[in-house]
This record gives sequence, structure tokens and C-alpha cells, in this order.
Amino acid sequence: MTMEKVITLNVNGKEYTATVRTNETLLQVIREKLHLTGTKYGCGIGECSACTVILDGRTVLSCQMLAVSAAGKKILTIEGLDDGGKLHPVQEAFIDEGAVQCGFCTPGMVLTAVELLQNNSSPSSRDIKEALRGNMCRCTGYTNIENAIMLSAQRIMQEKDK
Ligand code: FES
Ligand code: FES
Repeated sequence: MTMEKVITLNVNGKEYTATVRTNETLLQVIREKLHLTGTKYGCGIGECSACTVILDGRTVLSCQMLAVSAAGKKILTIEGLDDGGKLHPVQEAFIDEGAVQCGFCTPGMVLTAVELLQNNSSPSSRDIKEALRGNMCRCTGYTNIENAIMLSAQRIMQEKDK
């Protein structure tokens, strides 16, 4: 039986209280109730990763998670990635390498790359391909996306060495 519940979600460092149906996905709530539309609805069945968000440091498919299960966890969406208006190095590198085409898959790609670089500061081409294996891009511009992730890894390392 579907019920309603009041939950608190911590998204991009901000607390949101929302009344949600117990069968409502995290993706629906992020887009339709919090109006954070950077997280995309692609397939709705866990196949494309357009709906990727970072939850307690790990990427999850928000179309496959109930909003009630995310209550009390820290959620990062693409809107929360910049640092006071300064783009994250992965975002900058996507722009510099022309890795944003129609852009529909881009938020999910960027967040997947952010998680990869948190765990592996110097990924190989194979590591990147492996990390992105679930992220579908209909424009098939994977080479530029891989180049952008390589470039952002280098820039993050250079920044740390300063
Ligand atoms: S919309 Fe979630 S995996 Fe496609
Ligand atoms: S940039 Fe178009 S689907 Fe990826």
C-alpha cells in the first residue's frame, strides 16, 4: 500500500523537508519536489546512469532508489558541485575538451568521474572506461569524455602539488 511520509533530505549541503509517497523515487523527488533538474531522467530502469547522484560519497542511480531510503543521507547533485561559483575541475575539463554535446548524459558522467577521481587520482584509460561503463551517451562522444577526465585528473594533481 502506498503511503505518504514526511522526510528530510540533505541535498548539496541544504536540508529539504518534503512529503513523499513511499513508492516515489529519489529522482522524482529531486526533480519534481526540489526542482533540481540537473539530474536527468533517461530510461527510468537503471540502464543509462543519466540520473546519477552521489550519496554518502558513492554514486547511485536515483531512479532506482526510493526517496524514503535516502532520508538522512548526504546527497550531491550536479548543482552542488561547484565551489562558490567556481566550476569543479571535472566540469571545466568537460568544457575544455568539448565533452558536452547534447548534455543530457553529462551530469551523470561528471558525477561518475568525480567519484572515480576521489578513489583513483591517476586513472588509466581502462579505469575510465570501466567507471563509465554504465553511463550511456547517445551522442557517442566517449573519446572527448575520456580525455576530459584525464585532463581533470592531471589538473587536480597539479593543484595538489602547488
Ligand atoms: S534514468 Fe536512471 S539509469 Fe536511466
Ligand atoms: S552528450 Fe548527448 S547523450 Fe551524452
